[in-house]
Amino acid sequence: MMWVPNITFLLLTLSAICYGDNPGAKIQITENGLQKGVEYLLDKMVSNNTVHRLPDVTGSENIASEDINYEFTQIRVEKFNLGTISSQWLPETGMRVSMESGNATINCNWKLDSWLIKDSGSSVLTLLGSSISIIMGVRRIDPGVPSIHLLDCKSSVQDVDVQMLGGVSYIIDTIKQPIQTVVQKTVSQQLCSYIRNQVTKWDQSIGHLKLNLSLNPLIELDLTLVGDPEISEHHANMGFKGIFRSHNESGSETAFSPAPITLPGKDGAMVYIGVSQSSLNSFCSAYYSAGFLTFQVSHMVGSKQLTTSELAAYMPEISQHFPKPVPVKIHMYATRSPLVFLLANNLTIQLGGSLETYAYPLNAERENIFSVNIVASFQASVILSEGKGAQGVNLTGSINLNRLQLEGSQPIIKGQKGVVTESGVQQLFHEMLIPAINEELAKGVFIHSKFLKNATASIEQGLAILAADLK
Ligand SMILES: *[C@@H]1O[C@H](CO)[C@@H](O)[C@H](O)[C@H]1NC(C)=O
Ligand SMILES: *[C@@H]1O[C@H](CO)[C@@H](O)[C@H](O)[C@H]1NC(C)=O
Ligand SMILES: *[C@@H]1O[C@H](CO)[C@@H](O)[C@H](O)[C@H]1NC(C)=O
Ligand SMILES: *[C@@H]1O[C@H](CO)[C@@H](O)[C@H](O)[C@H]1NC(C)=O
Ligand SMILES: *[C@@H]1O[C@H](CO)[C@@H](O)[C@H](O)[C@H]1NC(C)=O
Ligand SMILES: *[C@@H]1O[C@H](CO)[C@@H](O)[C@H](O)[C@H]1NC(C)=O
Ligand SMILES: *[C@@H]1O[C@H](CO)[C@@H](O)[C@H](O)[C@H]1NC(C)=O
Repeated sequence: MMWVPNITFLLLTLSAICYGDNPGAKIQITENGLQKGVEYLLDKMVSNNTVHRLPDVTGSENIASEDINYEFTQIRVEKFNLGTISSQWLPETGMRVSMESGNATINCNWKLDSWLIKDSGSSVLTLLGSSISIIMGVRRIDPGVPSIHLLDCKSSVQDVDVQMLGGVSYIIDTIKQPIQTVVQKTVSQQLCSYIRNQVTKWDQSIGHLKLNLSLNPLIELDLTLVGDPEISEHHANMGFKGIFRSHNESGSETAFSPAPITLPGKDGAMVYIGVSQSSLNSFCSAYYSAGFLTFQVSHMVGSKQLTTSELAAYMPEISQHFPKPVPVKIHMYATRSPLVFLLANNLTIQLGGSLETYAYPLNAERENIFSVNIVASFQASVILSEGKGAQGVNLTGSINLNRLQLEGSQPIIKGQKGVVTESGVQQLFHEMLIPAINEELAKGVFIHSKFLKNATASIEQGLAILAADLK
Protein backbone atom coordinates (compact mmCIF):
# COMPACT_ATOMS: atom_id res chain seq x y z
CA MET A 1 0.00 0.00 0.00
CA MET A 2 2.94 2.31 -0.70
CA TRP A 3 0.82 4.49 -2.92
CA VAL A 4 -1.36 5.76 -0.07
CA PRO A 5 1.29 7.96 1.53
CA ASN A 6 2.52 8.91 -1.94
CA ILE A 7 -0.90 10.18 -2.96
CA THR A 8 -1.26 11.99 0.34
CA PHE A 9 2.12 13.60 -0.28
CA LEU A 10 1.09 14.52 -3.82
CA LEU A 11 -2.17 16.06 -2.62
CA LEU A 12 -0.38 17.99 0.09
CA THR A 13 2.17 19.25 -2.41
CA LEU A 14 -0.57 20.21 -4.88
CA SER A 15 -2.59 21.99 -2.24
CA ALA A 16 0.53 23.82 -1.09
CA ILE A 17 1.14 24.93 -4.68
CA CYS A 18 -2.48 26.03 -5.06
CA TYR A 19 -2.33 27.87 -1.75
CA GLY A 20 0.34 30.09 -3.30
CA ASP A 21 -2.38 31.59 -5.50
CA ASN A 22 -4.85 32.16 -2.71
CA PRO A 23 -5.51 35.71 -1.64
CA GLY A 24 -4.08 36.71 1.72
CA ALA A 25 -7.00 39.02 2.38
CA LYS A 26 -10.53 39.20 1.10
CA ILE A 27 -13.14 41.92 1.04
CA GLN A 28 -16.81 41.09 0.83
CA ILE A 29 -19.28 43.79 -0.12
CA THR A 30 -22.89 42.93 0.61
CA GLU A 31 -26.00 44.31 -1.12
CA ASN A 32 -26.27 47.01 1.55
CA GLY A 33 -22.64 47.91 1.00
CA LEU A 34 -23.14 48.11 -2.76
CA GLN A 35 -26.18 50.37 -2.36
CA LYS A 36 -24.27 52.71 -0.04
CA GLY A 37 -21.24 52.77 -2.36
CA VAL A 38 -23.36 53.46 -5.45
CA GLU A 39 -25.26 56.25 -3.68
CA TYR A 40 -21.95 57.78 -2.63
CA LEU A 41 -20.48 57.66 -6.14
CA LEU A 42 -23.59 59.01 -7.86
CA ASP A 43 -23.98 61.72 -5.28
CA LYS A 44 -20.34 62.68 -5.87
CA MET A 45 -20.97 62.71 -9.61
CA VAL A 46 -24.01 64.98 -9.37
CA SER A 47 -22.74 67.33 -6.69
CA ASN A 48 -19.24 67.59 -8.01
CA ASN A 49 -19.66 71.33 -8.74
CA THR A 50 -18.39 70.72 -12.22
CA VAL A 51 -20.75 71.71 -14.99
CA HIS A 52 -21.90 68.57 -16.76
CA ARG A 53 -21.94 69.08 -20.51
CA LEU A 54 -24.01 67.10 -22.95
CA PRO A 55 -23.15 66.89 -26.65
CA ASP A 56 -24.90 69.29 -29.04
CA VAL A 57 -28.29 68.33 -30.42
CA THR A 58 -28.56 69.18 -34.08
CA GLY A 59 -30.84 68.01 -36.87
CA SER A 60 -33.60 68.88 -39.13
CA GLU A 61 -37.30 68.30 -38.70
CA ASN A 62 -40.27 68.82 -40.90
CA ILE A 63 -42.52 71.01 -38.80
CA ALA A 64 -45.71 72.51 -40.20
CA SER A 65 -44.66 71.46 -43.75
CA GLU A 66 -41.43 73.25 -43.40
CA ASP A 67 -37.92 71.81 -43.03
CA ILE A 68 -36.41 73.47 -40.00
CA ASN A 69 -32.75 72.96 -39.05
CA TYR A 70 -32.36 73.14 -35.33
CA GLU A 71 -29.31 73.34 -33.14
CA PHE A 72 -29.10 73.11 -29.35
CA THR A 73 -25.56 73.87 -28.24
CA GLN A 74 -23.68 74.58 -25.01
CA ILE A 75 -25.97 72.14 -23.20
CA ARG A 76 -25.20 72.40 -19.50
CA VAL A 77 -26.93 70.33 -16.86
CA GLU A 78 -27.50 72.74 -14.01
CA LYS A 79 -29.44 70.58 -11.59
CA PHE A 80 -29.69 66.85 -11.71
CA ASN A 81 -31.81 64.77 -9.38
CA LEU A 82 -31.16 61.15 -10.21
CA GLY A 83 -34.33 60.04 -8.44
CA THR A 84 -34.63 56.76 -6.60
CA ILE A 85 -31.43 54.74 -6.80
CA SER A 86 -31.43 50.98 -6.50
CA SER A 87 -28.65 48.49 -7.08
CA GLN A 88 -28.07 44.74 -7.19
CA TRP A 89 -25.17 42.42 -7.71
CA LEU A 90 -25.44 40.40 -10.92
CA PRO A 91 -23.91 36.95 -10.41
CA GLU A 92 -20.69 36.39 -12.35
CA THR A 93 -21.05 39.73 -14.13
CA GLY A 94 -21.07 42.81 -12.01
CA MET A 95 -23.90 45.03 -10.94
CA ARG A 96 -27.12 46.62 -12.06
CA VAL A 97 -27.91 50.19 -11.05
CA SER A 98 -31.25 51.89 -11.72
CA MET A 99 -32.27 55.46 -11.23
CA GLU A 100 -36.02 56.13 -11.49
CA SER A 101 -38.15 59.30 -11.50
CA GLY A 102 -35.27 61.71 -11.76
CA ASN A 103 -35.40 65.23 -13.09
CA ALA A 104 -32.99 67.81 -14.42
CA THR A 105 -32.73 71.42 -15.36
CA ILE A 106 -30.63 72.11 -18.41
CA ASN A 107 -29.52 75.39 -19.94
CA CYS A 108 -28.53 75.68 -23.56
CA ASN A 109 -28.45 77.90 -26.62
CA TRP A 110 -30.73 77.25 -29.56
CA LYS A 111 -30.76 78.21 -33.17
CA LEU A 112 -33.47 77.60 -35.79
CA ASP A 113 -32.81 77.95 -39.46
CA SER A 114 -35.34 77.54 -42.31
CA TRP A 115 -36.70 79.29 -45.33
CA LEU A 116 -39.18 81.13 -43.10
CA ILE A 117 -37.44 81.43 -39.74
CA LYS A 118 -33.93 82.38 -38.73
CA ASP A 119 -33.81 82.81 -35.00
CA SER A 120 -31.75 82.08 -31.94
CA GLY A 121 -31.71 82.51 -28.19
CA SER A 122 -31.14 80.66 -24.98
CA SER A 123 -33.41 78.15 -23.36
CA VAL A 124 -34.12 76.25 -20.18
CA LEU A 125 -35.07 72.60 -20.52
CA THR A 126 -36.75 70.78 -17.69
CA LEU A 127 -36.57 66.99 -17.86
CA LEU A 128 -39.11 65.06 -15.84
CA GLY A 129 -39.37 61.38 -15.06
CA SER A 130 -35.90 60.45 -16.23
CA SER A 131 -34.87 56.87 -15.74
CA ILE A 132 -31.50 55.28 -16.30
CA SER A 133 -30.73 51.60 -15.95
CA ILE A 134 -27.18 50.39 -16.35
CA ILE A 135 -25.30 47.13 -16.09
CA MET A 136 -21.64 47.31 -15.24
CA GLY A 137 -19.14 44.51 -15.49
CA VAL A 138 -16.43 44.16 -12.85
CA ARG A 139 -13.21 42.29 -13.51
CA ARG A 140 -9.52 42.16 -12.77
CA ILE A 141 -7.07 43.54 -15.28
CA ASP A 142 -3.26 43.37 -15.26
CA PRO A 143 -1.28 44.09 -13.12
CA GLY A 144 -4.01 43.24 -10.63
CA VAL A 145 -6.34 46.20 -10.40
CA PRO A 146 -10.15 46.13 -10.49
CA SER A 147 -11.81 47.50 -13.58
CA ILE A 148 -15.42 48.41 -14.36
CA HIS A 149 -17.00 48.72 -17.77
CA LEU A 150 -20.46 49.53 -19.04
CA LEU A 151 -22.24 46.48 -20.47
CA ASP A 152 -25.65 47.96 -21.03
CA CYS A 153 -27.43 51.25 -20.58
CA LYS A 154 -31.05 52.20 -21.12
CA SER A 155 -32.40 55.63 -20.45
CA SER A 156 -35.60 57.50 -21.05
CA VAL A 157 -37.16 60.82 -20.24
CA GLN A 158 -40.92 60.95 -19.78
CA ASP A 159 -41.44 64.62 -20.34
CA VAL A 160 -39.51 67.65 -21.48
CA ASP A 161 -40.45 71.25 -21.10
CA VAL A 162 -38.57 73.68 -23.31
CA GLN A 163 -38.60 77.36 -22.39
CA MET A 164 -37.08 79.26 -25.27
CA LEU A 165 -35.96 82.71 -24.29
CA GLY A 166 -35.54 85.30 -27.02
CA GLY A 167 -36.91 84.73 -30.47
CA VAL A 168 -40.31 85.52 -31.83
CA SER A 169 -42.88 83.98 -29.54
CA TYR A 170 -45.61 83.04 -32.05
CA ILE A 171 -43.11 81.02 -34.07
CA ILE A 172 -41.80 79.35 -30.99
CA ASP A 173 -45.27 78.45 -29.79
CA THR A 174 -45.90 76.68 -33.09
CA ILE A 175 -42.76 74.65 -33.01
CA LYS A 176 -42.50 74.08 -29.26
CA GLN A 177 -44.22 70.70 -29.18
CA PRO A 178 -42.26 69.09 -32.02
CA ILE A 179 -39.04 70.54 -30.63
CA GLN A 180 -39.84 69.05 -27.22
CA THR A 181 -40.36 65.67 -28.83
CA VAL A 182 -37.00 65.91 -30.60
CA VAL A 183 -35.19 67.06 -27.47
CA GLN A 184 -36.81 64.34 -25.37
CA LYS A 185 -35.67 61.65 -27.80
CA THR A 186 -32.14 62.98 -28.12
CA VAL A 187 -31.54 63.70 -24.46
CA SER A 188 -32.87 60.24 -23.58
CA GLN A 189 -30.16 58.75 -25.77
CA GLN A 190 -27.50 61.13 -24.56
CA LEU A 191 -27.96 60.28 -20.89
CA CYS A 192 -26.36 56.94 -21.70
CA SER A 193 -23.38 58.46 -23.48
CA TYR A 194 -22.97 60.71 -20.47
CA ILE A 195 -23.03 57.66 -18.18
CA ARG A 196 -20.59 55.86 -20.48
CA ASN A 197 -18.09 58.74 -20.11
CA GLN A 198 -18.60 58.76 -16.36
CA VAL A 199 -17.96 55.02 -16.08
CA THR A 200 -14.78 55.44 -18.14
CA LYS A 201 -13.67 58.18 -15.74
CA TRP A 202 -14.41 56.02 -12.70
CA ASP A 203 -12.53 53.15 -14.27
CA GLN A 204 -9.52 55.40 -14.90
CA SER A 205 -9.50 56.56 -11.28
CA ILE A 206 -9.68 52.95 -10.07
CA GLY A 207 -6.86 52.08 -12.49
CA HIS A 208 -4.69 54.74 -10.88
CA LEU A 209 -5.22 53.41 -7.35
CA LYS A 210 -1.92 52.54 -5.76
CA LEU A 211 -2.26 48.93 -4.74
CA ASN A 212 1.24 48.67 -3.36
CA LEU A 213 0.85 50.88 -0.32
CA SER A 214 3.88 52.27 1.45
CA LEU A 215 3.19 52.00 5.17
CA ASN A 216 6.51 53.59 5.99
CA PRO A 217 9.81 53.98 4.13
CA LEU A 218 10.72 50.34 4.77
CA ILE A 219 7.42 48.50 4.56
CA GLU A 220 4.96 47.99 1.76
CA LEU A 221 1.56 46.30 1.68
CA ASP A 222 0.68 44.58 -1.59
CA LEU A 223 -3.06 44.80 -2.23
CA THR A 224 -2.90 43.56 -5.81
CA LEU A 225 -6.14 41.86 -6.81
CA VAL A 226 -5.85 38.07 -7.06
CA GLY A 227 -8.26 36.77 -9.68
CA ASP A 228 -11.57 38.20 -10.84
CA PRO A 229 -14.09 39.33 -8.24
CA GLU A 230 -16.51 36.54 -7.36
CA ILE A 231 -20.01 37.89 -7.58
CA SER A 232 -23.10 36.12 -6.35
CA GLU A 233 -26.62 37.35 -5.79
CA HIS A 234 -25.98 38.71 -2.30
CA HIS A 235 -22.38 39.81 -2.34
CA ALA A 236 -19.13 40.32 -4.20
CA ASN A 237 -15.87 38.90 -2.90
CA MET A 238 -12.55 40.38 -3.91
CA GLY A 239 -9.32 38.62 -3.08
CA PHE A 240 -6.16 40.64 -2.52
CA LYS A 241 -2.56 39.53 -2.21
CA GLY A 242 -2.47 40.93 1.33
CA ILE A 243 1.26 40.49 1.76
CA PHE A 244 3.50 42.84 3.71
CA ARG A 245 7.07 43.26 2.48
CA SER A 246 10.04 45.03 3.91
CA HIS A 247 12.52 46.40 1.41
CA ASN A 248 15.44 44.49 2.89
CA GLU A 249 13.70 41.16 3.18
CA SER A 250 14.18 38.73 0.34
CA GLY A 251 12.80 35.35 -0.58
CA SER A 252 10.00 35.45 1.96
CA GLU A 253 7.35 35.42 -0.77
CA THR A 254 7.66 31.66 -1.23
CA ALA A 255 6.77 31.19 2.42
CA PHE A 256 3.56 33.08 1.86
CA SER A 257 0.86 30.52 1.16
CA PRO A 258 -2.47 31.50 2.66
CA ALA A 259 -5.23 28.94 3.12
CA PRO A 260 -8.46 29.64 1.23
CA ILE A 261 -10.58 32.32 2.90
CA THR A 262 -14.29 31.80 3.40
CA LEU A 263 -16.10 34.82 4.77
CA PRO A 264 -19.21 34.12 6.83
CA GLY A 265 -21.56 35.81 4.34
CA LYS A 266 -23.90 37.00 7.06
CA ASP A 267 -25.98 39.89 5.87
CA GLY A 268 -25.66 42.23 8.83
CA ALA A 269 -22.77 44.48 7.90
CA MET A 270 -22.01 46.27 4.64
CA VAL A 271 -18.43 45.06 4.30
CA TYR A 272 -16.43 42.18 5.70
CA ILE A 273 -12.65 42.17 5.55
CA GLY A 274 -10.94 38.85 6.17
CA VAL A 275 -7.21 38.81 6.87
CA SER A 276 -5.50 35.43 6.81
CA GLN A 277 -3.04 34.10 9.34
CA SER A 278 -0.43 34.14 6.53
CA SER A 279 -1.02 37.81 5.92
CA LEU A 280 -0.57 38.63 9.62
CA ASN A 281 2.59 36.55 9.64
CA SER A 282 3.95 38.45 6.65
CA PHE A 283 3.22 41.62 8.65
CA CYS A 284 5.34 40.29 11.56
CA SER A 285 8.04 39.12 9.21
CA ALA A 286 8.26 42.49 7.42
CA TYR A 287 8.46 44.41 10.70
CA TYR A 288 11.05 42.00 12.02
CA SER A 289 13.22 42.25 8.88
CA ALA A 290 13.02 46.01 8.90
CA GLY A 291 14.48 45.97 12.39
CA PHE A 292 11.38 47.39 14.09
CA LEU A 293 10.90 44.69 16.72
CA THR A 294 13.30 46.17 19.25
CA PHE A 295 11.96 47.68 22.42
CA GLN A 296 13.39 49.37 25.41
CA VAL A 297 11.22 47.58 27.92
CA SER A 298 12.13 49.81 30.88
CA HIS A 299 10.51 52.75 29.03
CA MET A 300 7.26 50.85 29.00
CA VAL A 301 7.29 50.35 32.73
CA GLY A 302 6.27 53.96 33.09
CA SER A 303 7.72 57.10 34.53
CA LYS A 304 9.48 55.59 37.50
CA GLN A 305 13.11 54.62 36.97
CA LEU A 306 13.61 50.90 37.22
CA THR A 307 16.42 49.89 39.60
CA THR A 308 18.23 46.77 40.66
CA SER A 309 16.12 46.65 43.82
CA GLU A 310 12.92 46.10 41.71
CA LEU A 311 14.71 43.41 39.73
CA ALA A 312 15.82 41.77 42.96
CA ALA A 313 12.17 40.95 43.61
CA TYR A 314 12.46 38.42 40.78
CA MET A 315 16.17 37.52 41.08
CA PRO A 316 17.04 37.92 44.80
CA GLU A 317 20.79 37.37 44.33
CA ILE A 318 21.04 40.62 42.38
CA SER A 319 20.92 42.55 45.63
CA GLN A 320 24.16 40.86 46.72
CA HIS A 321 25.93 42.37 43.70
CA PHE A 322 24.21 45.73 43.93
CA PRO A 323 23.63 46.43 47.63
CA LYS A 324 22.54 49.97 46.75
CA PRO A 325 19.84 50.43 44.09
CA VAL A 326 21.37 51.19 40.69
CA PRO A 327 19.34 52.31 37.62
CA VAL A 328 18.48 49.49 35.21
CA LYS A 329 17.51 49.37 31.55
CA ILE A 330 16.00 46.32 29.89
CA HIS A 331 16.13 45.89 26.13
CA MET A 332 14.16 43.28 24.30
CA TYR A 333 14.45 42.40 20.65
CA ALA A 334 12.98 39.68 18.51
CA THR A 335 15.55 37.15 17.37
CA ARG A 336 13.23 35.74 14.74
CA SER A 337 9.97 36.74 13.15
CA PRO A 338 7.06 36.42 15.58
CA LEU A 339 4.38 33.91 14.61
CA VAL A 340 0.64 34.52 14.78
CA PHE A 341 -1.84 31.68 15.29
CA LEU A 342 -5.53 32.19 14.76
CA LEU A 343 -8.09 29.79 16.25
CA ALA A 344 -11.75 30.51 16.95
CA ASN A 345 -11.78 33.43 19.44
CA ASN A 346 -8.10 32.91 20.06
CA LEU A 347 -5.29 35.09 18.72
CA THR A 348 -1.93 33.83 19.91
CA ILE A 349 1.45 35.39 19.19
CA GLN A 350 4.66 33.44 19.62
CA LEU A 351 7.77 35.51 20.13
CA GLY A 352 11.38 34.41 20.20
CA GLY A 353 13.55 37.13 21.60
CA SER A 354 16.42 38.22 23.70
CA LEU A 355 16.18 40.16 26.94
CA GLU A 356 19.25 42.21 27.86
CA THR A 357 19.51 43.89 31.24
CA TYR A 358 22.01 46.61 32.04
CA ALA A 359 22.88 48.39 35.26
CA TYR A 360 24.01 52.02 35.09
CA PRO A 361 26.11 52.60 38.22
CA LEU A 362 26.94 56.23 39.02
CA ASN A 363 30.29 57.30 37.53
CA ALA A 364 30.91 53.91 35.97
CA GLU A 365 30.46 52.07 32.69
CA ARG A 366 27.13 50.37 32.12
CA GLU A 367 27.26 46.76 33.18
CA ASN A 368 25.40 43.82 31.65
CA ILE A 369 23.56 42.17 34.52
CA PHE A 370 22.26 39.32 32.44
CA SER A 371 21.10 38.43 28.95
CA VAL A 372 18.65 35.70 28.31
CA ASN A 373 16.89 34.21 25.30
CA ILE A 374 13.21 33.53 25.69
CA VAL A 375 10.33 31.96 23.77
CA ALA A 376 7.02 33.36 24.88
CA SER A 377 3.46 32.86 23.79
CA PHE A 378 0.90 35.59 24.35
CA GLN A 379 -2.82 35.54 23.85
CA ALA A 380 -4.13 38.84 22.61
CA SER A 381 -7.61 40.31 22.52
CA VAL A 382 -8.59 43.16 20.27
CA ILE A 383 -11.52 45.54 20.61
CA LEU A 384 -12.64 48.07 18.02
CA SER A 385 -14.75 51.08 18.88
CA GLU A 386 -15.76 54.37 17.31
CA GLY A 387 -13.01 56.94 17.67
CA LYS A 388 -14.01 59.86 19.83
CA GLY A 389 -13.81 63.30 18.33
CA ALA A 390 -12.44 62.21 14.96
CA GLN A 391 -13.53 59.99 12.10
CA GLY A 392 -12.05 56.57 12.57
CA VAL A 393 -11.72 53.42 14.56
CA ASN A 394 -10.16 53.10 18.01
CA LEU A 395 -8.20 49.88 18.39
CA THR A 396 -7.63 48.76 21.96
CA GLY A 397 -6.52 45.44 23.31
CA SER A 398 -4.73 43.46 25.93
CA ILE A 399 -2.33 40.55 26.12
CA ASN A 400 -1.92 37.62 28.46
CA LEU A 401 1.21 35.57 28.90
CA ASN A 402 0.37 31.94 28.08
CA ARG A 403 3.81 30.47 28.36
CA LEU A 404 7.44 31.56 28.70
CA GLN A 405 10.56 29.45 28.50
CA LEU A 406 14.24 30.26 28.66
CA GLU A 407 16.26 29.12 25.68
CA GLY A 408 19.91 28.19 25.48
CA SER A 409 22.34 28.03 28.35
CA GLN A 410 21.63 29.46 31.80
CA PRO A 411 22.81 33.03 32.12
CA ILE A 412 25.55 33.77 34.62
CA ILE A 413 25.75 36.81 36.86
CA LYS A 414 29.32 37.55 38.01
CA GLY A 415 30.34 33.92 37.79
CA GLN A 416 27.26 32.79 39.65
CA LYS A 417 24.92 30.28 38.01
CA GLY A 418 21.23 29.73 38.69
CA VAL A 419 20.56 33.35 39.58
CA VAL A 420 18.23 33.99 36.65
CA THR A 421 15.53 31.38 36.78
CA GLU A 422 12.71 30.71 34.35
CA SER A 423 10.15 31.36 37.06
CA GLY A 424 11.90 34.64 37.94
CA VAL A 425 11.64 35.85 34.32
CA GLN A 426 8.03 34.64 34.10
CA GLN A 427 7.23 36.63 37.22
CA LEU A 428 9.00 39.69 35.80
CA PHE A 429 6.69 39.47 32.77
CA HIS A 430 3.53 38.77 34.74
CA GLU A 431 3.99 41.45 37.35
CA MET A 432 5.90 44.19 35.60
CA LEU A 433 6.02 43.97 31.80
CA ILE A 434 2.57 42.67 30.85
CA PRO A 435 0.67 45.18 33.05
CA ALA A 436 2.80 47.98 31.56
CA ILE A 437 2.16 46.81 27.99
CA ASN A 438 -1.56 46.46 28.71
CA GLU A 439 -1.69 49.96 30.06
CA GLU A 440 -0.31 51.18 26.72
CA LEU A 441 -2.67 48.98 24.69
CA ALA A 442 -5.68 50.23 26.67
CA LYS A 443 -4.97 53.80 25.56
CA GLY A 444 -5.90 52.71 22.07
CA VAL A 445 -4.44 53.19 18.64
CA PHE A 446 -6.48 55.52 16.48
CA ILE A 447 -6.94 54.41 12.88
CA HIS A 448 -8.17 57.22 10.70
CA SER A 449 -10.98 56.19 8.39
CA LYS A 450 -13.46 58.41 6.60
CA PHE A 451 -15.59 55.54 5.35
CA LEU A 452 -16.00 52.89 8.04
CA LYS A 453 -18.28 52.88 11.06
CA ASN A 454 -19.65 50.27 13.47
CA ALA A 455 -16.49 48.23 13.02
CA THR A 456 -16.18 44.98 14.95
CA ALA A 457 -13.40 42.42 14.91
CA SER A 458 -13.61 38.68 15.40
CA ILE A 459 -11.14 35.83 15.24
CA GLU A 460 -11.97 32.60 13.40
CA GLN A 461 -9.88 29.59 12.51
CA GLY A 462 -7.03 30.97 10.37
CA LEU A 463 -8.79 34.28 9.85
CA ALA A 464 -9.24 37.69 11.47
CA ILE A 465 -12.49 39.32 10.36
CA LEU A 466 -13.43 42.96 10.42
CA ALA A 467 -17.10 43.76 9.86
CA ALA A 468 -18.14 47.35 9.26
CA ASP A 469 -20.68 49.67 7.72
CA LEU A 470 -19.89 52.37 5.20
CA LYS A 471 -20.56 56.00 6.06
C1 LIG B 1 -15.14 65.41 -9.70
O1 LIG B 1 -14.53 66.42 -10.48
C2 LIG B 1 -13.13 66.30 -10.60
C3 LIG B 1 -12.61 67.44 -11.44
O2 LIG B 1 -13.14 68.64 -10.96
C4 LIG B 1 -12.79 64.97 -11.26
O3 LIG B 1 -11.37 64.81 -11.31
C5 LIG B 1 -13.38 63.83 -10.47
O4 LIG B 1 -13.15 62.60 -11.13
C6 LIG B 1 -14.88 64.04 -10.30
N1 LIG B 1 -15.39 63.00 -9.43
C7 LIG B 1 -16.43 62.23 -9.77
C8 LIG B 1 -16.85 61.21 -8.77
O5 LIG B 1 -17.00 62.35 -10.82
C1 LIG C 1 -36.98 66.83 -8.89
O1 LIG C 1 -36.64 65.80 -7.95
C2 LIG C 1 -36.46 66.26 -6.64
C3 LIG C 1 -35.99 65.12 -5.79
O2 LIG C 1 -36.61 63.92 -6.12
C4 LIG C 1 -37.75 66.88 -6.12
O3 LIG C 1 -37.56 67.37 -4.80
C5 LIG C 1 -38.16 68.00 -7.04
O4 LIG C 1 -39.42 68.52 -6.64
C6 LIG C 1 -38.27 67.52 -8.48
N1 LIG C 1 -38.51 68.66 -9.35
C7 LIG C 1 -39.51 68.68 -10.19
C8 LIG C 1 -39.62 69.89 -11.05
O5 LIG C 1 -40.32 67.75 -10.29
C1 LIG D 1 3.27 45.44 -6.39
O1 LIG D 1 4.62 45.06 -6.14
C2 LIG D 1 4.92 43.73 -6.55
C3 LIG D 1 6.32 43.40 -6.12
O2 LIG D 1 7.15 44.52 -6.12
C4 LIG D 1 4.73 43.60 -8.05
O3 LIG D 1 5.00 42.27 -8.46
C5 LIG D 1 3.29 43.96 -8.40
O4 LIG D 1 3.12 43.93 -9.80
C6 LIG D 1 2.95 45.34 -7.87
N1 LIG D 1 1.52 45.55 -8.09
C7 LIG D 1 1.03 46.63 -8.70
C8 LIG D 1 -0.45 46.69 -8.85
O5 LIG D 1 1.75 47.53 -9.11
C1 LIG E 1 16.78 46.43 7.27
O1 LIG E 1 17.02 47.83 7.32
C2 LIG E 1 16.95 48.41 8.61
C3 LIG E 1 17.10 49.92 8.47
O2 LIG E 1 18.00 50.25 7.44
C4 LIG E 1 18.00 47.79 9.52
O3 LIG E 1 17.87 48.35 10.81
C5 LIG E 1 17.78 46.29 9.58
O4 LIG E 1 18.78 45.69 10.36
C6 LIG E 1 17.78 45.70 8.19
N1 LIG E 1 17.44 44.29 8.29
C7 LIG E 1 18.09 43.34 7.64
C8 LIG E 1 17.59 41.94 7.83
O5 LIG E 1 19.02 43.58 6.91
C1 LIG F 1 -5.35 29.60 22.42
O1 LIG F 1 -4.57 28.85 21.50
C2 LIG F 1 -3.31 28.45 22.00
C3 LIG F 1 -2.59 27.69 20.90
O2 LIG F 1 -2.49 28.48 19.75
C4 LIG F 1 -3.47 27.60 23.24
O3 LIG F 1 -2.20 27.30 23.78
C5 LIG F 1 -4.28 28.36 24.28
O4 LIG F 1 -4.55 27.54 25.39
C6 LIG F 1 -5.60 28.81 23.67
N1 LIG F 1 -6.31 29.62 24.64
C7 LIG F 1 -7.56 29.37 25.01
C8 LIG F 1 -8.16 30.28 26.02
O5 LIG F 1 -8.18 28.43 24.54
C1 LIG G 1 -9.82 54.84 22.60
O1 LIG G 1 -10.34 54.06 23.66
C2 LIG G 1 -9.70 54.31 24.93
C3 LIG G 1 -10.29 53.34 25.96
O2 LIG G 1 -11.67 53.35 25.94
C4 LIG G 1 -9.93 55.77 25.31
O3 LIG G 1 -9.28 56.04 26.53
C5 LIG G 1 -9.38 56.68 24.22
O4 LIG G 1 -9.66 58.02 24.52
C6 LIG G 1 -10.03 56.32 22.88
N1 LIG G 1 -9.42 57.13 21.83
C7 LIG G 1 -10.13 57.68 20.83
C8 LIG G 1 -9.37 58.49 19.84
O5 LIG G 1 -11.34 57.53 20.73
C1 LIG H 1 -24.11 51.83 13.73
O1 LIG H 1 -23.76 53.16 14.12
C2 LIG H 1 -24.83 54.07 14.18
C3 LIG H 1 -24.25 55.42 14.57
O2 LIG H 1 -23.04 55.66 13.94
C4 LIG H 1 -25.85 53.57 15.21
O3 LIG H 1 -26.95 54.42 15.21
C5 LIG H 1 -26.29 52.15 14.84
O4 LIG H 1 -27.15 51.65 15.84
C6 LIG H 1 -25.10 51.25 14.71
N1 LIG H 1 -25.55 49.93 14.27
C7 LIG H 1 -25.09 48.79 14.79
C8 LIG H 1 -25.62 47.53 14.21
O5 LIG H 1 -24.23 48.79 15.65
